[in-house]
Order: sequence, then C-alpha cells, then structure tokens
Amino acid sequence: DRSIKIAPSILSADFANFGAEIQAIEAQGADWVHVDVMDGHFVPNLTFGPPAVKAFRKHVKTFMDVHLMIAPVDPYIEAYAEAGADMISAHVEAGPHIHRTLQAIRAQGVKAGVVLNPGTPAEAVADVLDMVDMVLVMTVNPGFGGQKFIHSGVEKTRKIRAMIGDRPIHIQIDGGVTPDTAPLVAAAGADCLVAGSAVFSGGSVDNPEVYGANIRAI
Ligand code: DX5
Ligand code: ZN
Repeated sequence: DRSIKIAPSILSADFANFGAEIQAIEAQGADWVHVDVMDGHFVPNLTFGPPAVKAFRKHVKTFMDVHLMIAPVDPYIEAYAEAGADMISAHVEAGPHIHRTLQAIRAQGVKAGVVLNPGTPAEAVADVLDMVDMVLVMTVNPGFGGQKFIHSGVEKTRKIRAMIGDRPIHIQIDGGVTPDTAPLVAAAGADCLVAGSAVFSGGSVDNPEVYGANIRAI
C-alpha cells in the first residue's frame, strides 16, 4: 500500500558505504531514512554518534528519522538536531521525564517521536500525544536488526490509533517488518514501517534494483 511510508533502517546497510547506500534506497523508493542510534547501555549494541549522523545528512534528500536508543537522552538532543535530524524519537523507558525530553526535542525545531518497547503498554504515551508527531511501536526488543516480529505490537497499534483519534500523528512500526507482518500492522493503523533486513537483503549498491523490489514487496 503506497499510502504507507517505508523507512529503511541503515543498520542493515554496508557500513563502509553509507553515502551510496542512502542514495540507492532513496532512488529505489524509500520515503524516509531511519537511523538507529545505540549506546551500549540502553541497548546492547553501539552505532552512530552525532558526527556520523551529520555525514549521513549530506546524502539524505528525503527525511532523516533518528531513533535514539540511548540513556540518558536529554544531553544529546541538541547534538543530534544539529547533525541534521528531521525527527528525533526517544523511548519512554530511557528516563523518568519523557515529557521534558519531548519538550527539548520540539525546542530544537525538529519533529518529535515517542517510542515504546514491546513490554511497555500503549497507555504510557497517553499524556504526551499532544507533544508528538509520531508514536513508534517497537515490535522487537531494540538492539539488533533481523529479529523476529513480536505480535503483541499489533493490538498495541490498534489501541494507539484509537487514542490518537483525528490528530495528525504517525504510527511507525520498527522490528521484524516483512511482507508477511506489514499488512497486520497497516490494518491496525500504522502508516510508517521501518525495515532493515527486509529492504537490504539480497541487494547491494551494485544491484540496487533488489532494494526497490524489496520495498515494493513490503
Ligand atoms: C532495532 C532497530 C531497528 C532494526 C530493524 O533495534 O531499531 O530499526 O534495524 O531491523 P529489522 O527490520 O531487520 O528487524
Ligand atoms: Zn529503529
């Protein structure tokens, strides 16, 4: 369904070739570029600091969606905004003050997303919906690409879509999105799907048509 945005996660790209990878996925139909920032503390993996994100920015022509899996979050918001994020998403589990964190993101003039881990109920975002442009429902435990989809995210998505009502707030799904799981979350009200392994598998910058076929298959 083309009304659903596809945001490939460059966590599954060739780490020695990010510029060409970003150009390839955008040329092949990616709507957004999803950047997974991990700190080895909030999640058991390490990825991109602000200088890396700033380097990605030079290649992104669409929309750079930065998913922060770090704790604490607040000391780094300004640096990721200055690196060129169009949207910064922060986890409710990453600290005691998600409301303050979302205020700080909006104060930087970028869009704000709030993220829920698989074990966190939909109700955790109820009192911040007026402060966000997106709710991100994790359908894996964050840290790694290529994990299996956790199905409880489907009902959670349905609940959040009802809570949102007619407000212009995206619901993004991240983790284990494939041609099999995408229709489930789309039917539940998601309108933006992150996909790492499902977009990048089988392709390369020398064979980018595979990325396009993978994106269209989701
Ligand atoms: C998980 C990341 C995801 C991940 C998705 O911690 O937030 O964005 O890269 O990868 P796939 O689509 O392979 O599950
Ligand atoms: Zn992510």
